[in-house]
Amino acid sequence: MTDIKRIAISTGGGDAPGLNAVIYAATLAAQQRGWEVVGIRDGYNGLLRGGDYPDGGLIELTRNRVRGIIHQGGTILGSTNRGNPIAYPVQQADGSWIEQDRTGELLERFAEHGIDALITIGGDGSLTIGNHLHEAGLRLVGVPKTIDNDLECTVATFGFASAVDFASECIDRLFSTATSHSRIMVVEVMGRYAGWIALHAGMASGVHAILLPEIPYRLEPVAELIAERAQRGSTYSIVCVAEGARPVGGERTVAGKSVGQAERLGGVGAKVAAELEALTGRESRSLALGHLLRGGSPTATDRLLGLRFGAAAVRALSEGRTGVMVALNPPTVDYVPLADATRRQKTVPLDCDSIQTARDVGIRFGDEC
Ligand code: F6P
Repeated sequence: MTDIKRIAISTGGGDAPGLNAVIYAATLAAQQRGWEVVGIRDGYNGLLRGGDYPDGGLIELTRNRVRGIIHQGGTILGSTNRGNPIAYPVQQADGSWIEQDRTGELLERFAEHGIDALITIGGDGSLTIGNHLHEAGLRLVGVPKTIDNDLECTVATFGFASAVDFASECIDRLFSTATSHSRIMVVEVMGRYAGWIALHAGMASGVHAILLPEIPYRLEPVAELIAERAQRGSTYSIVCVAEGARPVGGERTVAGKSVGQAERLGGVGAKVAAELEALTGRESRSLALGHLLRGGSPTATDRLLGLRFGAAAVRALSEGRTGVMVALNPPTVDYVPLADATRRQKTVPLDCDSIQTARDVGIRFGDEC
């Protein structure tokens, strides 16, 4: 039994397909227990800057409010990656920015609104904040979300399957234009410091080379493969590059950095295309799929995972758990300490069977002799 009467849900960091399925299941599961549910707008901004919102920053989540949202992309609550309460960005009179710890104020807001517990849905940044709030005394359960699939202690995060499916569909389309023009096409995909999206989408669509953050690359082996293919009569090639990939001895390509935000990766695909054109003498083009991978309707896999995570988060709270993250551990959903889940990022293991399979079918990673 629990004394919970009212809970809040927040979504933080980059959006991912499946967020609304979590909100749907958590809301209905909580209502079945007689709890009220509110959604906090834009991470914690709805509580920290409630006055900026016409509705005060909180949305009452009812059966009517969440009806029909399972298949919708994005999050009905809004999200932000500039609302970390531990290092909240505040602009000074002279235009410069400082970061303030607003944890105490945030906890007061939760109490003022009679919120007994929080379900925080997010990636490593939001869940690290969640662990901090838990240690500061807030009753809280985390739900792992990210298209990058880079969270430890869970076999998968929702959003990843949708991103991989869409990236594969896009790469499939590149084949026809690449063959028609005998070009090298380089496609850059998101994933931050992990290569899961590039590896899975690249393999699923049969690309010829995949460049991952986990394997610093040289382009000579890729250029050799392109030349071999041309000799065999295949005058086009497709390369899938993770945005976090970097050359041997080189740096990642950073597109920018703003106050209170992590660095933004992007641009490596264009560099790889230019270098491959120089190495092979063949016409090359690049494109970055970017935020397209976060958009659109979640796949059935991600909807189901979102529903399972949302309901499991409510069960965790009703069982008196706090400071835990729900985690996929087939065939079930488990609970793991938030501190364990956020300790480090889950990157692609170099000895995993997917990498071996890719090598077995002739895909190059740029580390070949
Ligand atoms: O973590 C999800 C993600 O989409 C990464 O793949 C990407 O590097 C980052 O977010 C982009 O963030 P933003 O939307 O802030 O540019």
